[in-house]
Amino acid sequence: MKVKRLYINTIGCQMNVYDAGQIAGVLAPLGYTQTDAIESADMVVVNTCTIREKAEQKAFSFLGRLAKIKAARPSLIVAMGGCVAQQEGEAVLKRMPHVDLVFGTHAIFRLPEMVRRIESSHCRIVDVRLSETIETDRPVDGPLNEGQVSAFVTIMRGCDNYCTYCVVPHVRGREASRHPDRIIEEIRMRVDRGIREVTLLGQNVNSYGNKEGLCSFAELLERVNAIEGLGRIRFTTSHPKDLSDELIQAFGKLDKLCRHIHLPVQSGDDDILSRMNRRYSSSAYLEKLARLRQVCPDIAVTSDFIVGFPGETDRQFQRTLELIEAVRYDGLFAFMYSDRPNAPAAKFSGKVSESVKKERLQALLDLQQTITREKHEAMVGRVRTVLVEGPSRGLDDSTGAGGSPKIRWSGRASSNHIVHFSASDAHSANKEILTGEFADIMIEGAYAHSLWGRRVQGSMGAEP
Ligand code: SAH
Ligand code: SF4
Ligand code: F3S
Repeated sequence: MKVKRLYINTIGCQMNVYDAGQIAGVLAPLGYTQTDAIESADMVVVNTCTIREKAEQKAFSFLGRLAKIKAARPSLIVAMGGCVAQQEGEAVLKRMPHVDLVFGTHAIFRLPEMVRRIESSHCRIVDVRLSETIETDRPVDGPLNEGQVSAFVTIMRGCDNYCTYCVVPHVRGREASRHPDRIIEEIRMRVDRGIREVTLLGQNVNSYGNKEGLCSFAELLERVNAIEGLGRIRFTTSHPKDLSDELIQAFGKLDKLCRHIHLPVQSGDDDILSRMNRRYSSSAYLEKLARLRQVCPDIAVTSDFIVGFPGETDRQFQRTLELIEAVRYDGLFAFMYSDRPNAPAAKFSGKVSESVKKERLQALLDLQQTITREKHEAMVGRVRTVLVEGPSRGLDDSTGAGGSPKIRWSGRASSNHIVHFSASDAHSANKEILTGEFADIMIEGAYAHSLWGRRVQGSMGAEP
């Protein structure tokens, strides 16, 4: 079979990263192997995101730049997948004459057949069919990068929450969960190939299995926890309204479950939360967090925020800052509100100006920066167990045992903090030795976005 080169550009969230692996996996039997060199590609896929207007623009500008390459090499297959493809469908073909294929978020398993048709008859295809249930749930053994220790595993797709600002329910379809047996099978497959940590993905993992009457999310976690060879489990995202006591208790019970929760609150004001259709109040959110911290006192908490939702007043924005101060997050993502097609908030009155949105975003980020710095500094002097992801770029100036250069490594603590460290023992200059291992690190310094430390031997009372 002729070797064909596949270039994938992924924009957007972890689900798209996971989907990129699925795309590569389903196209492998047709002879496609992935390449980083777009110039020599036989097929280019842009895996798109439409969560905010900027993300959508990014997709079209990348696609636009491909016109030249396609003109020079007409045999190149140009495909758009993901959330913009789902949203725009047929319109992409009209707008971009050099695009051959537009495939939506439920069409990945139909890709091989479509690509074969394009290869043989040079036709143009659009497939944006959405289905209520998952038709094909066969685990795909997608490619792994060299030294990759952590992988995403999608456990459910779609979303039924309809937050009023959000495009996801419109482009990812109805919520549907994968069968737990398939999920376990897929994780085992990954662990056999060297993966030590999985992040289970869903827009709202707390409602996993509800519709289909499968097991609960906490029960799924228990099964994943029992997989031999797997070291750590993470998950995202958890909707605060559905955060169950059963899941809270899991943080006290499951040894592989990382001490971190991403619990997006979006706003600290109850009127805004209600108009966002989030279906919790700020006090209900704080109560759930208090229970989590009771079960797992050092749990790291991160969140997403939207500033400048239609009608948001200065006072309402102040309440968001107050909530951030009350929670003292370990980190957060904040976004300026952006109108999205089909999302009801696009028609809400009281749109906030771009300049006010920018000011609010900056004020929020400044506040969090101070909190992050204080929290990072409080970690100095503690030992954290890190899953080593590989050498950091660049070598240390100093030398280790035997005069060999010390290598700087990086990894993540259970709390998801990035930790850089040096290891002076001679054999750890060999990159195979530490990648994928757990190492105990004495934290010695704090940066804005990461921590710095030194490897110590395990007897120093490290946390899991
Ligand atoms: N399912 C996840 C979020 C997915 S989208 C959840 O419910 O938390 C990721 C983040 O993008 C959201 O948490 C929100 O903060 C942000 N976001 C979504 N729609 C947006 C919009 N129209 N404008 C700005 N930010 C948006
Ligand atoms: Fe969007 Fe809300 Fe669903 Fe998250 S829960 S994907 S924010 S609709
Ligand atoms: Fe973007 Fe689609 Fe994810 S809109 S954030 S890629 S679900």
